Amino acid sequence: MKNIILTGVKPTGTPHLGNYFGAIKPAIELMQDPDAQCFYFIADYHALTTLRSADEMRQYFYEIACTWLAAGLDPDKAVFYRQSDIPEVFELTTIISNVTPKGLMNRAHAYKACVEKNEAAGVDRDADVNMGLYNYPILMAADIMLFNTKYVPVGQDQKQHVEIARDIAQYFNKKYGKSLMVPNAKISEEVATLTGLDGRKMSKSYNNVIPLFCPEKQLNKCVMSIKTDCAGANDPKDTNSILFTLYKLFASPEQIAAYEQAFHDGILWSEAKKQLFEVMNAYLAPMREKYDYYMAHHDEVDDILAQGAAKARPIARETMERIRKAIGVRG
Ligand code: TRP
Repeated sequence: MKNIILTGVKPTGTPHLGNYFGAIKPAIELMQDPDAQCFYFIADYHALTTLRSADEMRQYFYEIACTWLAAGLDPDKAVFYRQSDIPEVFELTTIISNVTPKGLMNRAHAYKACVEKNEAAGVDRDADVNMGLYNYPILMAADIMLFNTKYVPVGQDQKQHVEIARDIAQYFNKKYGKSLMVPNAKISEEVATLTGLDGRKMSKSYNNVIPLFCPEKQLNKCVMSIKTDCAGANDPKDTNSILFTLYKLFASPEQIAAYEQAFHDGILWSEAKKQLFEVMNAYLAPMREKYDYYMAHHDEVDDILAQGAAKARPIARETMERIRKAIGVRG
């Protein structure tokens, strides 16, 4: 039996470099492991906690789907599907919510952050909290457990959610016998370290991201707007600069050595930015071309995802038969 590796992405924003290096690229690399079967999906129901328009949902949905395909997801190797095509997820959510202590949900970071914000503002602690947000970790646990997942590659911010899924699986197994696989988080370290345009962590919520597949001109403008320190024109430059960090992600070892030397020799910040743009663009251009192709051919993307769902559903049905039997409903 191969190890099941599964991860989901919620379509709530345009993919940026942080998403690529933190989540997408490592997941594409895992796909090459002959001992693993990967399941990658778009968590459209999870996006409902924040999105409020169908147009936005569709836009981000295709942006995410096309990004994964452009980044090298091979639908013959990984099972690539959309969450909403797998109704079994919602049945499992209902079942496992009955073994999930309410207190466990009270401690989930996203919910706790809302409560703390409300308390600080002196309003009702549950103001603006909907049940989608509150139940979010249970839906995510169902995504994971439905496919007998052993490893869940996620960023640090999702670690607690995977731990909650572990707890839920263990509660269930204790009551009903070993029916659910207990998952493990696989944390990729790169995520935490990618810095945004303003020097803070690259994040949609800080509005400091470099989009992954924007047009060349916009990419250039973005790179030119990166904050640098006030070192004099010909002074040596600090290799702790974001420019250097980013350059290392895109360049060859030889290029990196030359760039480092140029920093010591006092390269102009404007020249350093120009060179960064060049390596970035060379790396991203072929992927961007594929991305633009898929964005112009949504029907092909739909076909790929439908084939993925056709592979995923028999496994989901099998799990649900096992779980229904364990709890004593329907046959
Ligand atoms: N919560 C994840 C995020 O915010 C997305 C997600 C949904 C997910 N279901 C999942 C990730 C299952 C891993 C496994 O990005």
